[in-house]
Amino acid sequence: MTNSTVLPGLLILAAMLAGGPPAPAQPLPAPPPVSAGAARTLNDPIFPSLGQLGLDVRHYDVALTVAEPGTPELSGAVTLTLAATRPLAEVRLDFYGPTVTAVRWNGQAAPFRMEPDRQKLVVTPPAPLLPGQEARLTVEYQGAPGVILDPDFSTPLRLGWQAVPAGEGGAGANFTLSEPQGTHTFLPTNDHPSDKATFTTRVTVPPGFTAAASGLEGAVVEGSGTRTFVFTQAEPIPTYALAVHVNRFERVMAPPVPVGANGAPVVRRDYFPVGTADSTRSAYARTDEMLRVLSGWFGPYPFGAYGVAVVTPPLPALETATLSTMPVRSSNERVAVHELAHQWFGDAVSPATWADVWLNEGFATYAELLWTEAQGGDGQAVAARWYAILAQGGTRPLVATQAGQLFDRSAYQRGALALHALRAAVGDAAFRAFLHAYTARFSGKSLTTADLLTFAHTQVGGAGEAALRTWVESPGLPPLPVPAH
Ligand code: TRP
Ligand code: ZN
Repeated sequence: MTNSTVLPGLLILAAMLAGGPPAPAQPLPAPPPVSAGAARTLNDPIFPSLGQLGLDVRHYDVALTVAEPGTPELSGAVTLTLAATRPLAEVRLDFYGPTVTAVRWNGQAAPFRMEPDRQKLVVTPPAPLLPGQEARLTVEYQGAPGVILDPDFSTPLRLGWQAVPAGEGGAGANFTLSEPQGTHTFLPTNDHPSDKATFTTRVTVPPGFTAAASGLEGAVVEGSGTRTFVFTQAEPIPTYALAVHVNRFERVMAPPVPVGANGAPVVRRDYFPVGTADSTRSAYARTDEMLRVLSGWFGPYPFGAYGVAVVTPPLPALETATLSTMPVRSSNERVAVHELAHQWFGDAVSPATWADVWLNEGFATYAELLWTEAQGGDGQAVAARWYAILAQGGTRPLVATQAGQLFDRSAYQRGALALHALRAAVGDAAFRAFLHAYTARFSGKSLTTADLLTFAHTQVGGAGEAALRTWVESPGLPPLPVPAH
């Protein structure tokens, strides 16, 4: 992220639009368990209305048609593969999108209703979904997605589905920019990072346009006056990390990089809007080297592909899975390495709640220091700059308690210094081994800050855990850590 001052406002607005906390459960005399469970959300400490307790979406098969790129309109058909960890008489998906035109449960039409104030699509299956069962839920919809605006952003920032009108330096474009909870403006989801899923994404566009999405690209299907691009995201990711892009793109392939598990090749492709300046493209010339440096510290790259999709509006960059979304304005090496690091921390290893989002931002920010060192630069000077920012601007314990904190300086710079403190306490070799073990243990999963501390104890012992814990918990600013080399 490059513009940290703009985000708290959008998050506060998003929190307002997400509705209030769920009603506390009442002790009923004879509660039918299926309906008692049905209305419960995931009770996220920051966004309490998101998600459904007991719902496990395993896979989203998404088909989007963008008939007029650059306009907000889209039509969609998504089939969710659902499981339950408790009996569900209703499925309550987050959705604030276009008008729903059809809902099917295992292929049969099913009753549904919208709860717009809670941004929910509620579907009633013919019989409760029970633990151990799997169901396919299809939702079809058409129209304009819901809008969540950030009042503090100089050009209004909407979360989720973006439209860049034709004529603004291009032929019209659309893309997703969803963290934390914009994906449900264009896709019905269990919109919470604790319920990660795999995705198949099919995007149908007019001739001359190219679609890109998270995952590996499959065959392009030529229709009558349309082209459909298909992408498979085979490893689970949080819903906010799904990238979908439509533009007049140039797709630039680069040689695969052998940094996957057991040296498996990682596909390299970048998408540049036609006419992208060389000065923008050059920020991505060293992606191969970045992949090698970061996988040296973090462990194997967690996905089958990496690259960027460049967008023209002046928005913050986002770590969309396998395909970071990079505004022209943020096309520099520092942001490039930050978003790449998020592929491990955020996309593969995800926070269990939004209060734990420093687990994304602190680790991705620390990658900036590691990259500086790999260039022969002074990492301790980077740490000292972060420290000065916190000493001047104030700081807080790392677990967030309100939406305005999610992407603040403490999440980024204090989160990064927590890792610097761990490194100083245990040394480079143990720090590197810890990072490898952490990604191996939690890739494909979601964890809390408490889980991190427990894991640190088992990996590096009490001294390392204590160094980390001081930076996680202390109300003030601990002393600047200085690792020995
Ligand atoms: N995770 C982003 C980063 O630091 C920052 C971010 C948070 C963001 N919410 C966003 C970017 C919404 C774009 C849209 O890299
Ligand atoms: Zn970040």
